[in-house]
Amino acid sequence: MKFFNTLVLALPAAQAMPGVIPRNLHTNGVEIRDEATLEKLRASHAYTLEALRNQTIAAREGAGSEHDKRLVIFGLGGFAFIEVAGALGGTIAGLQNKLLKMFTGDKQEQIWHNWGYCRTYFQTQGGGNCETRTYDREAQDATAVHQDGPCAWNDPENNDPPVVFYEGDQGIGKYSIQYTATDEYAWDGLEGTETCAAEGLCNPSYVFYREGYNMILNTWQSQGEISACQYSGGEDCKGLCSSGVKDQFQSGGVVWGGDCAIPCESDTELPEE
Ligand SMILES: *[C@@H]1O[C@H](CO)[C@@H](O)[C@H](O)[C@H]1NC(C)=O
Repeated sequence: MKFFNTLVLALPAAQAMPGVIPRNLHTNGVEIRDEATLEKLRASHAYTLEALRNQTIAAREGAGSEHDKRLVIFGLGGFAFIEVAGALGGTIAGLQNKLLKMFTGDKQEQIWHNWGYCRTYFQTQGGGNCETRTYDREAQDATAVHQDGPCAWNDPENNDPPVVFYEGDQGIGKYSIQYTATDEYAWDGLEGTETCAAEGLCNPSYVFYREGYNMILNTWQSQGEISACQYSGGEDCKGLCSSGVKDQFQSGGVVWGGDCAIPCESDTELPEE
């Protein structure tokens, strides 16, 4: 019997209480509402999804065409780099290796609650009422909380689910969140979407916007496994996120939510040329 099990089991409980909203919280970060900025970000978001779709299809067909070289799939489920400016090639590959080492190195017990990383928590209730929190590295309490997002997916047969953009969250950089499924619909704008196991809205996709490249995190494709963490002594939890039903019995509908480790803005700066 190895002794690390106790350590792995004991740490996460003490580390995070994602269900508790801290009071008197100083919240920074805002939803982006400037139309000119939104227009650019929406185009960047659409490009990111299209490039990911192309790459996924090419990978499935065992092909690799010229435009696929602009994209690098991170060796971690549900996470990908998308180059948007071109000519970053080797630099992006270096950054990818750095993040891969960072996210898959040792001490990976429940990486989504590990203070050594930036983190996010997301939650919906009754098909809407979305809340997004982010945590800067080493922060115990959320360093940004957003409850203002118009996230509900109305008339899924005829509409894409809305994308909500944020900026100014301490340590996180610009990002967007888009819920991709309800219990009845899984959006067809991304490969591999999955309907929710419970009634409501679930499975967000995050995009992080950087100079010349974006990163996409499809949270439902990056589910870590607590059992995997325990069996491997915390060395391989197989994903960045853990999500599911948080409260089945609350009035107003099922509360669904999850946590992920995410790259901090400072983790993803390109080296000076
Ligand atoms: C995706 O593939 C289509 C068809 O090959 C191509 O026209 C388009 O430019 C590609 N988009 C991206 C973002 O790579």
